[in-house]
Amino acid sequence: MDTAEIRRRFLAHFENAGHTAVPSASLLLDDPNLLFVNAGMVPFKPYFLGQETPPYDRATSIQKCVRTPDIEDVGKTTRHGTFFEMCGNFSFGDYFKERAIELAWDLVTKPQSDGGWGFDEAKLYPSVYVDDHEAVALWKKITGLPDDRIARLGKSENYWSMGVPGPGGPCSEILIDRGPAYGADGDFSAEDRYLEFWNLVFMQDELSAVRSKEDFDIAGQLPKKNIDTGMGLERVAFMTQGVENMYEIDVMFPVIERAMELTGRKYGADPVDDVRFRVIADHVRSSMMLISDGVTPGNEARGYVLRRLLRRAVRSVRLLGYEDPALPELLPISRDKMGETYTDLHSDWERISRVAFAEEEAFRKTLASGTTIFDTAAAKVKKAGGTSLAGEQAFALHDTYGFPIDLTLEMASEAGLSVDEPGFRSLMAEQRDRAKADAKSKKGQHADTGVYRGILDEHGPTEWLAYETLATESRALALLSGGAPATVLGNGEVGEIVLDRTPFYAESGGQVADAGIIEFDGGRLEVLDVQRPVRGLVVHQVRVVDGELSADAVAGSGQLHAQVDPDWRTGARQAHSGTHVVHAALRQVLGPSALQSGSYNRPGYLRLDFGWTTGLSPAQVREIEDVSNHALRADLAVGAQYMTLPDAKEWGAVALFGETYDAGKVRVVEIGGPWSRELCGGTHVDHSSQIGTIVVTGEASVGSGNRRIEAFTGVEGFAYLAKERDVVGQLTGLLKTQPDDLVGRVGDLVERLRAAEKEIEKVRLAQLLSGGAELAAGAQDIGGVQVVAHRVDGAGGGDVRTLAMDVRGRLPHDAPGLVVVIGAADGKVSVVAALNEAAQARGLSANDLVRAVGPFIDGKGGGKADVAQGGGTDTSRLDEALAAVGATVAAAV
Ligand code: ALA
Repeated sequence: MDTAEIRRRFLAHFENAGHTAVPSASLLLDDPNLLFVNAGMVPFKPYFLGQETPPYDRATSIQKCVRTPDIEDVGKTTRHGTFFEMCGNFSFGDYFKERAIELAWDLVTKPQSDGGWGFDEAKLYPSVYVDDHEAVALWKKITGLPDDRIARLGKSENYWSMGVPGPGGPCSEILIDRGPAYGADGDFSAEDRYLEFWNLVFMQDELSAVRSKEDFDIAGQLPKKNIDTGMGLERVAFMTQGVENMYEIDVMFPVIERAMELTGRKYGADPVDDVRFRVIADHVRSSMMLISDGVTPGNEARGYVLRRLLRRAVRSVRLLGYEDPALPELLPISRDKMGETYTDLHSDWERISRVAFAEEEAFRKTLASGTTIFDTAAAKVKKAGGTSLAGEQAFALHDTYGFPIDLTLEMASEAGLSVDEPGFRSLMAEQRDRAKADAKSKKGQHADTGVYRGILDEHGPTEWLAYETLATESRALALLSGGAPATVLGNGEVGEIVLDRTPFYAESGGQVADAGIIEFDGGRLEVLDVQRPVRGLVVHQVRVVDGELSADAVAGSGQLHAQVDPDWRTGARQAHSGTHVVHAALRQVLGPSALQSGSYNRPGYLRLDFGWTTGLSPAQVREIEDVSNHALRADLAVGAQYMTLPDAKEWGAVALFGETYDAGKVRVVEIGGPWSRELCGGTHVDHSSQIGTIVVTGEASVGSGNRRIEAFTGVEGFAYLAKERDVVGQLTGLLKTQPDDLVGRVGDLVERLRAAEKEIEKVRLAQLLSGGAELAAGAQDIGGVQVVAHRVDGAGGGDVRTLAMDVRGRLPHDAPGLVVVIGAADGKVSVVAALNEAAQARGLSANDLVRAVGPFIDGKGGGKADVAQGGGTDTSRLDEALAAVGATVAAAV
């Protein structure tokens, strides 16, 4: 039964039973919780939840669905498709369990001649949610099956929800036993043996949270009891079509067949290849359906899923050995099959194919540049006598060029190398951990601001004294561990503490948080970070370094001593004021249109990003540094004032993009009065000379019209200069010269080195060519043609050509003569053929000679009749290659 017939029968069955047939919704239904429609019931969700009144009590549909969490399993099992069609019947407060079971059982067991699937009852097993005794009784009554044919399964199999808050309920599934070849008797976890193909959900609950299939919160009952069923079209198709899996059904297999033709490989011959064929069939179809519904490839969310599907498809074709653009060959096949149902695929083909083909082109370019990187890395490994590509290299290819590891493995094996896979995997794991930690720390900062809000509501804003003092006597208001209220923080533990007042600067405006300690009766906390997760509340992240902090003890003894590390703060003030100075200097040197776009400063170091499209000259950088240090020497007064934003702007204070400022008064920090005025909440020095020094270390692009300037301040600035002085000291010692003469000396040396290298090159060339005359003299006469066929080990392409041209010039001009030189260096073979005019007049061609050599060096090449060149990778048959030259000439003359 083809899928079209299954569709027809399904809809007819339910229409006859009073259901309204509803066309499939787009895959991109507007549901903020879902990337794609992933079940037949999604478009009906508002009806189940009672948010809207359905225009019918019963409906049936065949809904397009996309699910990608199992993308890695595609092709490896019989039934994982990223795109699939779900046949469903729905009751909105109309019939419930009994009728749903009757309707499904009827269709499944009715003979095919009667319009059903004709499945053998002896092979069918209904399943129920463990304690759904009502369902057990109904199944027995309706089907007449004995009790032991009804499987009782847990939440993970037989409670269905959308995976996100929404409707849900216990369910019954119909499984079909495919026989002992697919798993053990009675083992319902053997999903290929007991294949589930129809899920009847008794939709009755409203879920408020879903943490996993087995862990969710039921908020209450839905307004009505409903039915939501889903029958896998592909699954029924492969059962009724007598094929092994969903990828072999009538609407998918033709893509595999085309892929076989393209790649010359056979489906069914090799298990690894088979997975690739199936991935192609699945992904080509899914991508096409997604593009049809309006998704375009991108790096996020839906676009990323599409990109991944397309690239995985293209790569799978490649791994099967086909390197030309594949989608123009495959996509139309899928369109012709799916287009019978989804006619948009035809009418919108121009756009769909353009999107898909462009993505393949882009991926091919990525592959090409990655391949160059790979080749360079592989050549390096070989040159160094190695046999294995380092894990870091494989990782870099993956990370930067999106090279999947299996591609790297394959290319490495072609190049005769292995890959340090464990190294690669451990770098991948590290990256994953980093990403996780990052997500976690971000989560820590944003998670549950509710907790912080609660503290703020209860205690009011933190009295924040960072501008006034470095130490306060404070009371603890709240203790948190893992983002939740805690009663105790043990020794060594990291947690958060909120104080009634604090001298600690919370990270903001580019300035890092203060470091320091908080002492309590019986112990000490090290302050690791200070943030303001909600406006007005300062939260210290701390580690208990001494004693144990209990909320009770804190409450009992009352006082804690909060102490900012004074050195840290000094460094931070220097760096932050330094940032303002550099910003002002920058605008003096480049003009007022140079405006800070971001900054970061910590004790001793600052960096400032600014909008500017061209690189700064060394002289400009030097000037910025000069202006800055003059401002330090002028010992300008630094102060802060509060005023309204309009006043501040009137006053010439620089407000920065993307910053949000208080509606009331803003703080303006000025250095030397109008010399520098900026809106800023940071901590600053009192006089510019306290910054100590500003040493600019670099200026570079940070992309999209932004440049970054970096500098050290204070003691760190001196330390940086001292290190440079040491380097100069070592060089002057080494070169036995004075610092002032150093540049001249090194310049001399470099020049002499270059001259020496040139000299060596000359000598090498002379040596190479010194054999030229002898080679020409020793030419062999083949049918009246003077033939020189020669190999030079250790010579690369350039040398081979030079020698060939030299020898040709030495052969007699009036008689036919030709020369072929073959060189091998670094695992690469180069060949150059050069003919004089008389030889060409005899019908010989340089191109033919290079081509004749090709098979022996595993290579190719080309050129003109007089000179041609080529390259190859097999260095083991060079003598045979030379012999081929003589044979070719002999055959031609
Ligand atoms: N909504 C149910 C499922 O997707 C039928 O399995």
